[in-house]
Amino acid sequence: MCGIVAYLGDKQAYPILIKGLKRLEYRGYDSSGVAIIDNGEINLFKKQGKVVELESLVADKNINGTIGIGHTRWATHGLPNDINAHPHYSGNEKLAIIHNGIIENYASLKQGLKLRGHEFKSETDTEVLIHLIEDVQQKTNVPLAEAVRVALGEVIGAYAIVIIDKNNPNTLIAAKKSSPLVIGIGEGNEFYVASDATPIVEYTRNVVYLEDEEIAVLTKGEDIQLKNIKNQEKTPYIQELEMQLEAIEKGGYEHFMLKEIYEQPQSIRNSMRGRIDLDKGIVSLGGIRDYEQKMMNASRIIIVACGTSWHAGLVGEYLLEDLTRIPVEVEYASEFRYRNPIISESDVVIAISQSGETADTLAAIKLAKEKGATIIGICNVVGSSISRETHAGSYTHAGPEIGVASTKAFTSQVTVLSLMALSIAHKKGTISESKFRALLHELSSIPEKVEHLLSSDKQVKHISALFKDARNFLYLGRGYNFPVALEGALKLKEISYIHAEGYPAAEMKHGPIALIDEEMPVVVIATKKGNYDKVVSNIEEVKARSGKIIAIVNEGDVDVKAIADHVIEIPEVEDLFSPLLTSIPLQLLSYHIAVMRGCNVDQPRNLAKSVTVE
Ligand code: G6P
Repeated sequence: MCGIVAYLGDKQAYPILIKGLKRLEYRGYDSSGVAIIDNGEINLFKKQGKVVELESLVADKNINGTIGIGHTRWATHGLPNDINAHPHYSGNEKLAIIHNGIIENYASLKQGLKLRGHEFKSETDTEVLIHLIEDVQQKTNVPLAEAVRVALGEVIGAYAIVIIDKNNPNTLIAAKKSSPLVIGIGEGNEFYVASDATPIVEYTRNVVYLEDEEIAVLTKGEDIQLKNIKNQEKTPYIQELEMQLEAIEKGGYEHFMLKEIYEQPQSIRNSMRGRIDLDKGIVSLGGIRDYEQKMMNASRIIIVACGTSWHAGLVGEYLLEDLTRIPVEVEYASEFRYRNPIISESDVVIAISQSGETADTLAAIKLAKEKGATIIGICNVVGSSISRETHAGSYTHAGPEIGVASTKAFTSQVTVLSLMALSIAHKKGTISESKFRALLHELSSIPEKVEHLLSSDKQVKHISALFKDARNFLYLGRGYNFPVALEGALKLKEISYIHAEGYPAAEMKHGPIALIDEEMPVVVIATKKGNYDKVVSNIEEVKARSGKIIAIVNEGDVDVKAIADHVIEIPEVEDLFSPLLTSIPLQLLSYHIAVMRGCNVDQPRNLAKSVTVE
């Protein structure tokens, strides 16, 4: 939540900042702002709403300058208005700050600062932090970097910050704890700073990911100076960025979400690349090799995640229990961390996160780690906090996902979970060699099947037009497709704001059936290999109450076709891999409905892609 970007060098800062903010807008879009130093003055502009609002605001303003900071906000403390927008000034307006994170003890710090004469304009925790830094500087007369270090020592919470000082237009000060921050080093030691590498990738490939509690002093033409909060010097670890610029652009699609849906044949392939050897009959996940024994011997696997990643975790539970016979529990990270869970050293925790930054998932991992469990990560973003906090893990390699509603990340997570389950089951001997090989073949064929099913998009669009004005939707599935029903419902409510619920098909009769009438579209996943006959009975129950059935069926289906109002056909696949196919028409359905309702599918209201607050 919240995206930060900064630049220092010989170029004009504003174009770099504004482009960066647009790339980071997926992290929050309640307000945005920039502050740029020109001729010894800070010119600060901020505006409620999207980055385009900020662009209109500055159209006739002085935005000259080669050092500046920018911010796009997802509101935590204070309304999303102009005043609470970042950047924030210090009291004397000598300093300006951008911040992603939450200062938890801001109220008590604010009280102390008020007693010392500080006056605040906004309701934000961020303004308190910059006043605290100013206060330390005034009291101790130390250089700014030292004041930042001392002030951060008093802070409880999470932060990625960048500060500029109007009297020192050659230096940016950046620091982080729990929120991500990456520094790009351009030619002649110009610097780019951002929440992720997307604003940086077109300028330089040399980056440094700051570690928690590190403070960087970036001075034009000089090497990075790095310290931690305990005042120990650190050596920056410069690494090469692997991200491709094309991956973060729309490439001719109307929305990122659609592009990402259509990328799935490739993203699923990328999740498997180099990990399956069909000839030798081997799955090898290099990242977890040293921990596979531990996984095989685990008394229990606990999967922690949030949102769509939690749904992938549910599929993982079915896969892992089915194939490895190890008991699996799936927990919302936010519940797990606060409910005093029983965790032992023989437990393996799998944390699933697209961004690798979700605060609750990160905290759940830390808790489980403290209690001695082995932590395995499944993340998409390379170098993210969760990937660094885990003992081992497998990246999904889905490529950057920009649309706030997760699509390709889900299928890639399920692919990696499938590989993990197959690998452990094979090594443990809980599936036969022939079944293992057959499943490997089946998994390898999924990308082609996804390619094929995407051709049914026209049909999905047609159905979407018929139901775009519905006020409620019900999604039903059984077994492996129960989590897909949950995910389908989540996609619809996230981006089209239609109320939708996902249920195990058999549970319908214990409540949701009361809602069914001729106004209620019911999406049912009725694939041949997944309790088909039982699902057919559930469809009959809906029909008997005049509900409208949209069914996901296999090509060549006869029975459901005869009773459903609409069908979407997908290729047949082994039941345990069916979520990799069945989830996709549901993504398309929600996409088209949202577009037809005029919703902003890539940036739905109130949501953010990377949830770095609890
Ligand atoms: C947010 C996003 C969801 C995502 C969830 C978990 O709510 O909007 O799309 O599933 O966070 O994020 P993670 O990055 O941990 O997978």
